Amino acid sequence: MSPEFHRLSRRRLLGGLLALAAGAALPPFPARASEILTREVPATGEALPRVGLGSWITFNVGDDPLLLEECTAVMAAFFAGGGRMIDSSPMYGSSQATIGHGLATLDAADRVYAADKVWTSNPAEGPEQVAASRRDWGLPRFDLLQVHNLLAWEANLDTLRAMKAAGEVRHIGITTSHGRRHGTLERIMREADLDFVQLTYNIVDREAEARLLPLARERGLGVIANRPFQQKRLIRRLAGEPLPGWAAEIGAESWAQVILKFIVSHPAVSCAIPATTRVDHVRENLAAAREPLPDAALRRRMAEHVRAL
Ligand SMILES: NC(=O)c1ccc[n+]([C@@H]2O[C@H](COP(=O)([O-])OP(=O)(O)OC[C@H]3O[C@@H](n4cnc5c(N)ncnc54)[C@H](OP(=O)(O)O)[C@@H]3O)[C@@H](O)[C@H]2O)c1
Repeated sequence: MSPEFHRLSRRRLLGGLLALAAGAALPPFPARASEILTREVPATGEALPRVGLGSWITFNVGDDPLLLEECTAVMAAFFAGGGRMIDSSPMYGSSQATIGHGLATLDAADRVYAADKVWTSNPAEGPEQVAASRRDWGLPRFDLLQVHNLLAWEANLDTLRAMKAAGEVRHIGITTSHGRRHGTLERIMREADLDFVQLTYNIVDREAEARLLPLARERGLGVIANRPFQQKRLIRRLAGEPLPGWAAEIGAESWAQVILKFIVSHPAVSCAIPATTRVDHVRENLAAAREPLPDAALRRRMAEHVRAL
């Protein structure tokens, strides 16, 4: 491991420990894990908590034991707060192994809804890639496998369909992000037999509202909203702005909670999957998946307010 990585790790660990200490002073949590709102995915008949956990970058910590423990602490708080879905990909460096470490340490294999991806331009490699991912997670099978970023989607979806038929995965889907290739995604959503789609949706990235989210409802598909905070850019942008008066009406105590409540209150969205390295943030994020949520009129005001800032 390079000295640079070590320096980075130490800095991040220090930040993590400070965050853990700060977490103790936050509003009490778990505030009643049973109050976490769930939404049933019509295609699967299964209800999932409306906030999950992403793992891109945040869980790519290599084999640094201290950072692995930091990620395990995030997972522990996630499960203690009623969280279930964790999302990863073979594209995310060591993140899958980090999740596997956390699941084994916490003995939480039966708590997680495990969502991973197939990410290869050579579909013949798909089954072995999935098997390697499963070994990293330490699970007998995934709950959900998604074709990552529509890569070689036709053949990779064939692989996932065959795995589902053989009982090797429960649910299947496809992902995109940053508003990319929505036209193709729409066609796949109409034609392919999917359970889930994953796409970027948040209070400023709202392109999916026009066609994809209504189509997901029509087709009974689960919707996973990625990049809820634009990888923190959105939070940084809003950080200097006071919370509007209506935030209290929906029980939001931070911009992060405003953003998450906006996302998960859309009637087509199953869950948002914010990523974090911090225990206090995972608690804050899960707490956003509680009543009260904004109605349609307030959602419009929220989006307008943020757009005007
Ligand atoms: N095509 C795809 O399939 C695709 C593409 C993109 C993303 N994804 C999935 O979606 C997940 C989420 O997207 P993302 O990783 O791009 O980023 P994101 O969730 O939009 O943002 C993550 C960042 O937000 C910060 N954060 C989290 N909670 C916070 C809070 N309560 N207050 C302040 N800051 C907070 C985190 O920093 P701290 O560590 O300081 O909390 C982290 O840097 C990914 O991890 C991945 O699983 C999938």
